[in-house]
Amino acid sequence: MNLKADRWVVGQDYFEAPTCASCHMSATRKQKVTHDVGARISWNLRAPISRKQKNWQQKRKNMEDVCTNCHGQSFADGHYYQLDATVKLYNEKFAVPATKIMKLIKKKHLLTNPAAFSNKIEWTYWELWHHEGRRARHGAAMFGPDYTWWHGFYEVAQHFYFKFIPEARELNDPEVNAAIDKLLKDDPMHQWLQKPTKDLKAAIKNGEMQKIYRKMFSTQ
Ligand code: HEC
Ligand code: HEC
Repeated sequence: MNLKADRWVVGQDYFEAPTCASCHMSATRKQKVTHDVGARISWNLRAPISRKQKNWQQKRKNMEDVCTNCHGQSFADGHYYQLDATVKLYNEKFAVPATKIMKLIKKKHLLTNPAAFSNKIEWTYWELWHHEGRRARHGAAMFGPDYTWWHGFYEVAQHFYFKFIPEARELNDPEVNAAIDKLLKDDPMHQWLQKPTKDLKAAIKNGEMQKIYRKMFSTQ
């Protein structure tokens, strides 16, 4: 790794493996060392709903310039194709609908206790994006499939369907209930809840299920 060398340029002084600094801060043949860790990041993966950063194309190129010292360009392209699809899946299936429901609940003053975080559903929503939702996104950004799945989407899905939605229904508000009913009935990503397993397995085999999710993979 040449860790004791005075100069530490990826692809020149070492190839073995990247550290946090290699990808986010250190020099490459084309870029100087930077303390602006945002300079190579195209998404905001921290927010409740992820959005691309300003000037994201250039920022992504800056990161790909790091990757391509050790990998071919197609490897980096494949990585971003997968990352974009993962972030879109998180956004569109879970984060956008959960945020809309939470906003409606707050707008209608349906929570019993006045202080922030004094009601159960506030914690459920917060953990959905801030804990498991972030782990899913960061895992996909940085090659941690176990984080993306077991500590990420597995919990996002489980808590969305079996904590967040039931807790929202417990508030007994007709408008909130109607919004939830509409989401589960009309959105093809959530319609599985009403279908028998054998029909779902058939839909996976014959490609119908892939069609629903293919939109995630369209480019930018
Ligand atoms: C192999 C390169 C690589 C390594 C090593 C790496 N990262 Fe990352 N990191 C990325 C990529 C790629 C992204 C997503 C970039 C994008 O949004 O386009 C990312 C995103 C992030 C984000 C998310 C920022 C945000 O809110 O969007 C954080 C925080 C982060 N990295 C911290 C770290 C830390 C801490 C380490 C070391 C423990 C580390 N990274 C190691 C490549 C790397
Ligand atoms: C300093 C060299 C270096 C840099 C820079 C680097 N990688 Fe790697 N990467 C490696 C090595 C070495 C492995 C193989 C690790 C192993 O097999 O355990 C690897 C593995 C991977 C894997 C496979 C992970 C897996 O679970 O099998 C992916 C995907 C990947 N890199 C993508 C990237 C992307 C995208 C970037 C830029 C954001 C990047 N790498 C930057 C050296 C690097």
